[in-house]
Amino acid sequence: MIKTKNLSFSYLEYEEIEELNDDDRELLISAMKSAANAYAPYSEFMVGAAVRLESGTIVNGTNIENGAFPSGICAERSALAGAASNHPGDVPVALAVAAKNSNGFTGDPVSPCGNCRQVISEEENRNHKPVRIILGGKRNIRIINTASDLLPLCFKMESHGFTHR
Ligand code: THU
Repeated sequence: MIKTKNLSFSYLEYEEIEELNDDDRELLISAMKSAANAYAPYSEFMVGAAVRLESGTIVNGTNIENGAFPSGICAERSALAGAASNHPGDVPVALAVAAKNSNGFTGDPVSPCGNCRQVISEEENRNHKPVRIILGGKRNIRIINTASDLLPLCFKMESHGFTHR
C-alpha cells in the first residue's frame, strides 16, 4: 500500500539584526567579522561562521579554498571542526553564517551546502542536542531550529544499530 508522507518545517525570518535576541545577534556579528579571514581567492566568496558552545564559548571558522578545488572546506565545517577539536565535550548549540563578495554581505542569507548540513546533523545526533542555525543576509536573516529541518530523512548510523558513545 502506498502512503504519502508530508514534511514541513517553520523558520523565523527577520529584516533587521537588531530584532534578534542578544545571543543570536552576538553570534551573527561574530560570523560576519570572521568572513574577513576567509581564504577564498578562487570564488572570492568569503564566508564566516560562528559556533556557540554550551559553555557560551564562540568558535569561528571561514571557508579555506584550495587550488585542488575539492580540498577546500566551507566555513561551517571549519568552525565545527575547530570547536570539536579544541573544546571536546562542549556541545555546539548554535551556528551563525554570513558571506560577502566584492559588493559586501549577500542580500539573501547564505544557506549551508549539503555536506555541511550532513556534518551539522552528525553533531546534533552525537550530542542529542539541536543546533540553532542563524543565516544572515543584508535583506533578511533566517533562524532555523535544527539542522534536521534542513536535511530531513538524513543518513544516520543510529538508524542502523550504531550507538553514539
Ligand atoms: N561556502 C561556504 O563556506 N559555506 C556555505 O554555506 C556555502 C559555500 C564556500 C565554499 C567555497 O569556498 C565558496 O563558499 C563558494 O562556494
